[in-house]
Amino acid sequence: MLLWLWQFVRPYRLRLVIAIIALIFTATLTLSLGQGIKLMIDEGFSSQSTLGLENALTFVGFIIVAMSIGAYFRFYMVSWLGERVVADIRKKLYSHLVSLPPSFFEDNLAGEIQSRVTTDTTLLQTVIGSSFSFALRNTLTFIGGLTLMFISNIKLTMIVLLVVPFIIFPLIYFGRKVKKLSRDSQDKIASVGAWAGESLQHIKVVQAFTREDMVTEQFNQAAEGAFDVALKRIRQRAALIAMVMMLVMGAVAGMLFVGGSDVIAGELSAGDLAAFVFYAIMVAGSLAAVTEVYGEVQRAAGAAERIRELLATEAEIKSPEAGVLETEPLEADDKPLIEFENMTYAYPSRPNTNALTKLNLAVQAGESIALVGPSGAGKSTLFDLLLRFRDPKGGDIKISGQSLSKWNLQDLRSQFALVPQQPVLFSANVWDNLKYGRPDATEAEVLAAVKAAHAEEFIEQLPDGYQSFLGEQGVKLSGGQKQRLAIARAILRDPKILLLDEATSALDAQSEHYVQQALNELMKGRTTFIIAHRLATVRHVDRIAVFDQGQLVDVGSHDELIESSELYRRLAELQFQLEKKA
Ligand SMILES: Nc1ncnc2c1ncn2[C@@H]1O[C@H](COP(=O)(O)OP(=O)(O)O)[C@@H](O)[C@H]1O
Ligand SMILES: [Mg+2]
Repeated sequence: MLLWLWQFVRPYRLRLVIAIIALIFTATLTLSLGQGIKLMIDEGFSSQSTLGLENALTFVGFIIVAMSIGAYFRFYMVSWLGERVVADIRKKLYSHLVSLPPSFFEDNLAGEIQSRVTTDTTLLQTVIGSSFSFALRNTLTFIGGLTLMFISNIKLTMIVLLVVPFIIFPLIYFGRKVKKLSRDSQDKIASVGAWAGESLQHIKVVQAFTREDMVTEQFNQAAEGAFDVALKRIRQRAALIAMVMMLVMGAVAGMLFVGGSDVIAGELSAGDLAAFVFYAIMVAGSLAAVTEVYGEVQRAAGAAERIRELLATEAEIKSPEAGVLETEPLEADDKPLIEFENMTYAYPSRPNTNALTKLNLAVQAGESIALVGPSGAGKSTLFDLLLRFRDPKGGDIKISGQSLSKWNLQDLRSQFALVPQQPVLFSANVWDNLKYGRPDATEAEVLAAVKAAHAEEFIEQLPDGYQSFLGEQGVKLSGGQKQRLAIARAILRDPKILLLDEATSALDAQSEHYVQQALNELMKGRTTFIIAHRLATVRHVDRIAVFDQGQLVDVGSHDELIESSELYRRLAELQFQLEKKA
């Protein structure tokens, strides 16, 4: 763990050196207080001399001042290091997380990942920013104190040392246990957080189905579970602390008895005994302190392990070393822009059912193509594959004659604008949400996109217009309004390839009519894939591809398909009947 941490501390070596110097400085001064005490007793009290007492106290005074200054630097530098290193780790972790493919987040709870970024890094911060220096300081005190003890009185030192093995072995034994328990405890807390996050986010569904009691009960169980695990850890540590304290204090008492007898017998000066007791207390205190921090360090080691695991998760989908760039000359115009070649995909969680099977389809630049078919046919999956959120299991997808895996990922995705099935807005104002796909757009461009998406009217009616804050996930808007913002955002991005996943499904008939016109305008001369359930909205596209259970069953124009495709005819008839009834 230390080796791993070192890569983050390394850039701040200089500060670390200053911190360590300050640390050694203060530890040394702390120990030299023992000499001050000896002087005070032997030169002051025992010789009944006020001058001796004054001198001794002046000496002690200097030490105290120097020690305080050292402590300032030590604390400042060490805390600075802790905060700095953890900020760096957080940054690295987050930028790594956003590079992972969407499938990673399907398999891992968002709340748990969040807890890695917040709770686990905070644990690390305590260790680097305080425990570590605390441990080091106490270790120095321990070594220094022990050396001084040996120098001043070997016999007494041996008595003290007798108990050391009794302290060290339980320390190692309990420490291992605490480490395991603390990992469990962290995991529990993370899952409690994930739990709360999910139900709070979907509070409307929770309340509409009156499941408040159930989620509360489940949350309580999770919280109690976390408490139980924590309790085990606390018990271990409490036992450890009590045991160490008893052994240490017992040894001090035994030593006082032997040393006191020696003073009475005149074999030892009172000042020497006092200084020795001082060292012994320092040594014992530092040992106790180290045991206490030891548990914390173990906890942090667990946290570091989890962060390291997360950082080591390889993105299965990433840019090749030298990927095709957007700026490179693309192939001749007569070649199709997008080609699916015998492409097959199955979700990893369902390896035996293909979501798409042996798809062959070529789309020319500027062509608009509609994907229709029952839900679950694999239409949205096709969009995921085009954006390379997932890689095909068999066959290939090419854009401009180049396999998607050969493209630089960012350049590939820059070719697209997506209007997803569930419009996604961020907790920001209207303006920022619109500019999400093109932050450098001018005001005029934004307004033109808004106009094209027929979103003008409702945005202007919002309390703060374009500055209105939309709440988390745009909760302050209706479904149709969100959809129009998502469309405007796509229009503004002005992509080569437009992906519309049921982009008008949440609109009323009138807005749909307007937005459809806007989309028709947008689709002109632009390669477009449009998924639509209402066949009326896709009549004007160049070609319609009919999907069923992952198979491309028919391709053609509306009129051709009515003639040739049984599935399309059935879908069209059903809708026609429904519309007539309405
Ligand atoms: N993340 C996923 N993991 C596993 N299976 C999925 C996932 N997303 C979709 N599927 C399954 O893949 C099939 C195709 O889904 P999808 O492409 O969303 O259909 P649609 O044509 O309605 O857009 C469905 O059977 C669906 O249950
Ligand atoms: Mg879909």
